[in-house]
Amino acid sequence: MVEGKWFQPGADAAEAFAIREKVFGRGQDALDSEAWNVLVWFQGEPAATGRIWWKEGAFWLGDIAVLPELRGRRLGDLTLRLLLFKAESHAARLMRLVSPKDVTGFFAKLGFKPEGEADPQPMMLRGEDLCLDTCKGCKKDCPNRKD
Ligand SMILES: CC(C)(COP(=O)(O)OP(=O)(O)OC[C@H]1O[C@@H](n2cnc3c(N)ncnc32)[C@H](O)[C@@H]1OP(=O)(O)O)[C@@H](O)C(=O)NCCC(=O)NCCS
Repeated sequence: MVEGKWFQPGADAAEAFAIREKVFGRGQDALDSEAWNVLVWFQGEPAATGRIWWKEGAFWLGDIAVLPELRGRRLGDLTLRLLLFKAESHAARLMRLVSPKDVTGFFAKLGFKPEGEADPQPMMLRGEDLCLDTCKGCKKDCPNRKD
């Protein structure tokens, strides 16, 4: 089973910080007093995390991390969607992040576009372009299918 939990700014999200430490080599920091952290469990164990905060007119997403042994199971996609849902629930007009060059394709799947050529790569997504709908109209007998 997959579960998700939010930690408000300043909360002790120790399990989320531990995943961040394991993946990026750095744990809790000053930004955690301003950021919402999300933690995703897979089969009862902490598996993925990420955070979102407001700065200078945009919601920033960062430190999205899935434990190496649990990658490729859509836990990263879920974590990113949870962060974007949080932004959407605050009527976000703009979301930004900075991505390693080899991960930009992961963010592009949910609509993030590169801004400039820097490395790591700045990316942005406008609120009006955010779509968390997972329906691809694939089932012939599905009422959501439009054609
Ligand atoms: C990037 C990361 C979060 C992806 O997590 P994951 O659980 O393995 O990814 P998912 O299984 O949810 O993949 C979702 C989709 O993104 C794609 N994807 C995953 N990693 C990708 C990458 N590096 N580049 C391009 N696409 C990628 C998957 O193929 C999948 O595509 P699909 O929808 O066509 O099936 C994970 O690899 C990670 O923690 N990396 C190290 C930390 C990092 O670099 N974080 C990003 C910077 S904040």
